Amino acid sequence: MLRTHTCGELNISNAGQEVTLAGWIQKSRDLGGMTFIDLRDRYGITQLVFNMETDAKLCEKARKLGREFVIKVTGKVAERSNKNPKMPTGDIEIIVGGFEILNESKTPPFTIEDNTDGGDELRMKYRYLDLRRNPVKENLALRHKISIETRKYLDGENFFEIETPFLIKSTPEGARDFVVPSRMHTGQFYALPQSPQTFKQLLMVAGYDRYFQLVRCFRDEDLRADRQPEFTQIDCEMSFVTREDILNTFEGLAKHLFKTVKGIDIEEFPRMSYDDAMKFYGSDKPDIRFGMKFVELNDVAQGKGFVVFDNAELVVGINAEGCAGYSRKQLDKLTEFVKKPQIGAKGLVYVKYNEDGTFKSSVDKFFDGEALKGWAEKFGSKPGDLMLILAGEKDKTRKALNELRLEMGDRLELRDKNIFKPLWVVDFPLLERDEDSGRWHAMHHPFTSPKQEDIELMETEPGLVRANAYDMVINGVEIGGGSIRIHNKDLQKRMFKLLGFSDEEAQNQFGFLMNAFEYGAPPHGGIALGFDRLVALFGGSDSIRDYIAFPKNNAGRDVMIDSPSQIAQEQLNELGLKIVK
Ligand code: AMO
Repeated sequence: MLRTHTCGELNISNAGQEVTLAGWIQKSRDLGGMTFIDLRDRYGITQLVFNMETDAKLCEKARKLGREFVIKVTGKVAERSNKNPKMPTGDIEIIVGGFEILNESKTPPFTIEDNTDGGDELRMKYRYLDLRRNPVKENLALRHKISIETRKYLDGENFFEIETPFLIKSTPEGARDFVVPSRMHTGQFYALPQSPQTFKQLLMVAGYDRYFQLVRCFRDEDLRADRQPEFTQIDCEMSFVTREDILNTFEGLAKHLFKTVKGIDIEEFPRMSYDDAMKFYGSDKPDIRFGMKFVELNDVAQGKGFVVFDNAELVVGINAEGCAGYSRKQLDKLTEFVKKPQIGAKGLVYVKYNEDGTFKSSVDKFFDGEALKGWAEKFGSKPGDLMLILAGEKDKTRKALNELRLEMGDRLELRDKNIFKPLWVVDFPLLERDEDSGRWHAMHHPFTSPKQEDIELMETEPGLVRANAYDMVINGVEIGGGSIRIHNKDLQKRMFKLLGFSDEEAQNQFGFLMNAFEYGAPPHGGIALGFDRLVALFGGSDSIRDYIAFPKNNAGRDVMIDSPSQIAQEQLNELGLKIVK
């Protein structure tokens, strides 16, 4: 070993010891008679001291060391006169006897500090330097801890960790595939897995009744803060289980992780139907850290001559506690907010329930105090509250009110990052209709089983069929999703037919799975949790990029290695590819 200790472990009990440390120079301060250097490694920072009086030559040499030089030092641990209680090693320093430069460093393009001066793109380009910074390192440490605890829990529940291949064939998860051309089979392509879905189902046919994998998935889709083109799933599948068994097992995993990683006991893990989630929160991933549930007003607000309400499919609102004092300007801001194109409401109706018990609303012309009192009762409003109401087409209005609810949640600081409220959203629709083509698409994926009692509606009322599918949602983030699968070949065939696949197309794409189902497929189901999202949630961030060692930027590029990039003509020829611009 080049060192006897790390830079994070020495304390007053080591005083007097002769030690050797190795690391990077964080910063150096030259105070004339003394030179102080902060030496950093993965474990922490230790202060080194060079004294002009005792060893002028060594001190001169130390002054020439630049930031990020890698050195090995030997010296004696001494109690500091000027202690730093913020640092674990802040009680001591090393009186250096000698050092060796292991490597020099160019001046880094940004400071390696918790609050760095480097912009996003620059830090991505020099990601290996960004990774030296504490906050990034802590994020990766959190990721490591969650992965280890996941493995411990699933191992304890008898799951087998099994790897599945990356060079496969299209898996239908709803995004585009990344494809890899085959040299040996010119004109043919592998697809990188959007998930190991089909393989995990084949493992169930094979009898490995509890499988898991922390696995990379690849999806060519538009990127957002919570989406990367390659990301990691905690992918799982179980046989001979009901939906309840799966929900309980993964509720158990979530609770284990909260307990072991964050020291938090999760008491409640409610279940909510998709229909209720949409009705009361306007979202299939409701943030239940706060109330403000939707209240529908059609029965009391329509037929009173206000055309906006009268012509609307839905009149619905939320109650913002204690906001009756909002100024004209604040209300205008909220109106502007809901009218933004991405939110799409036409306007916002407000009702102030004043402290003195009177009402003031933007629709006073149509509704008197008595009528507004009736609304307040529906909302459960108290004097001092503000009711915010939208009207229009049902789905769009719910979606817009969801945004307004979240915005109000933020403004009222009801979305505390240190509070975690998980839930299961269950009974999703099996299918969704593409407005343009009129075709049905699987809302989850085509292997998801319809609910037993809805199977008979598959051909007659496909839009009403509910899936035996569930999402794990925490604080408004879709952390994971899964379903009980179809394990019957005929039902799978009916599903493919509904989705508009001809027998031939289905056979071509998924024949291997349907054939496998003819060899004793057990009833099975599973789930995949987005690992990066889970880690980011634990870390209190919305951006998964901060929790991935080498992420892509928002344009899907790795700016450090400059990828994607062109390949040589020779390579294209070998692959039988021609670039058409
Ligand atoms: P699904 O497509 O819902 O299900 O994915 C499961 C979870 O993976 C995460 N996720 C992503 N995370 C980061 N970047 C992305 N681009 C991205 N896409 C998805 C989400 C999501 O909830 N095979 C099924 C699971 C199953 O049925 O067992 C599947 O992949 O957190």
